[in-house]
Amino acid sequence: MDMDKLVSLCKRRGIIFPSSEIYGGLNGFWDYGPLGVELKRNIKDAWWRDNITLRDDMVGIDCSIIMNPKVWEASGHVGGFSDPMVDCRETKERYRADQLHVFRYDLAAISEGRVQIFAVALTGGTVDDARGSLSDRMTNLSRKGHLPIKLKDLPEPEVVEFLSVPVADRDGIVGPSATKPGTLTEPRNFNLMFESHAGAIADEANKVYLRPETAQGIFVNFKNVVDTGRVKIPFGIGQIGKSFRNEINPRNFIFRSREFEQMEIEFFCRPDEAAEWYAYWRKTRFQWYIDHGIKSDKLRLRDHDPDELAFYSTATADIEYEFPFGVSELEGIAHRGDYDLGQHQKFSGKDLTYFDEEKKERYLPHVIEPSAGADRATLAFLCEAYQEDEVGGETRTVLKFHPRLAPIKAAVFPLVKRDGMPEMAEKLYRDLKKHFNVFQDEKGAIGRRYRRQDEAGTPFGITIDGQSITDGTVTFRDRDSCRQWRVPSANAVQALRDLLEGQAVPGGESEGQA
Ligand code: GAP
Repeated sequence: MDMDKLVSLCKRRGIIFPSSEIYGGLNGFWDYGPLGVELKRNIKDAWWRDNITLRDDMVGIDCSIIMNPKVWEASGHVGGFSDPMVDCRETKERYRADQLHVFRYDLAAISEGRVQIFAVALTGGTVDDARGSLSDRMTNLSRKGHLPIKLKDLPEPEVVEFLSVPVADRDGIVGPSATKPGTLTEPRNFNLMFESHAGAIADEANKVYLRPETAQGIFVNFKNVVDTGRVKIPFGIGQIGKSFRNEINPRNFIFRSREFEQMEIEFFCRPDEAAEWYAYWRKTRFQWYIDHGIKSDKLRLRDHDPDELAFYSTATADIEYEFPFGVSELEGIAHRGDYDLGQHQKFSGKDLTYFDEEKKERYLPHVIEPSAGADRATLAFLCEAYQEDEVGGETRTVLKFHPRLAPIKAAVFPLVKRDGMPEMAEKLYRDLKKHFNVFQDEKGAIGRRYRRQDEAGTPFGITIDGQSITDGTVTFRDRDSCRQWRVPSANAVQALRDLLEGQAVPGGESEGQA
């Protein structure tokens, strides 16, 4: 699947727009349009219902985005939430140092002592991303006369990470968009938290941060929830909300943005049961994506190697998806031990231990944290749903969303605008709308109307034709198989409910053959 096609479909169909687009947009910020907001809301609602409403051992919370700045000292974000950043003095561009790859051409043997080493840096999450753009970059430099020797005479480059190039040699590197070597600065740590000021005076004493994760709001409310919520360990607190990170390189559409939504759980348990709960959440969260339509082998569960783990974590796994731009993280499940409650206990001076009535002992609970991104989930569901297939000899674009996530559940179509069909369609539309998000479309040929809804991911179409007027039946059409079958109009609400809840699509005529 081509990412550009998906981005343009999202724009064209009102799923996702660049933020403040009439002013040229703002890098790292996106707006969800009428279809996108329904899709993302359905994802968040499904997460909330499955992880909180339907469970006896979970409660929800909704914390403020701006909190006492001490929260971020305790959590380690003030001191450590930073990426090494490199600036280019020539182009004024900024890069994450750990995403710069250096292609080093050893010219010692051929350049007669003029330039021994020529190196260009390219940016990309992976070496392969950078390697992909290498030949364009070299052709460009060659065309503009910036190569020390002819393009065709260059030897094979050696690829190294920028940070592993000795400092003394970095002056010889040409930056990703630069024309001359030596314009990249040394890496500096750049804190990713957005800062603001609470109150009228913009001084250090009033400095606050927009939260970079929703998790800390849960930890600092642990005691409030225990004291008021009649919860008993093991239990979890879930939260959905906006988080903000001043990412150096926001990219890949909504995958890495500066304002995004997280869906996080902190699950508190006895220290000796934490390993079991970790295994449980790792499996349960992975299955959740499969149950909502990510059935392909593009979904992976990857356990972190010991050297990838934070010092307080004994185990972490990432749920990953193979996006068109590479395999990347959708959600992390971390065994965080008692690190977070311990830190907040230390920094706040408040006792955050829990008294276990059953075991008659007091302890600091251990925490399992399944932390998902609503926007990344939206992107994965979009990528997985996007298909181009053949129907009746024509290629169509279709978003094959799981019915639970589909923005519109059904579209009602009067076949023609006469003979009582629009009136019957209007009545059915009104009946359905009391229960589901449905859409009515009278404009254009019926085939075109089907295609428009296929592109929006609407799982079912309901057509009112001449026969409907005489016998009161309507035609249901299934988006994926294009099968059609008749249902009495009076039963349409129940029939749609059954289908949305997973009842199999009945056999019927297939549109391609009709
Ligand atoms: N409390 C743990 C935590 O925040 P994280 O791995 O930094 O862990 C969790 O973030 C999830 O939040 C990620 O798996 C991703 O889905 C989402 N996320 C993080 N940064 C993001 C960004 N810049 N844009 C979109 N989603 C992001």
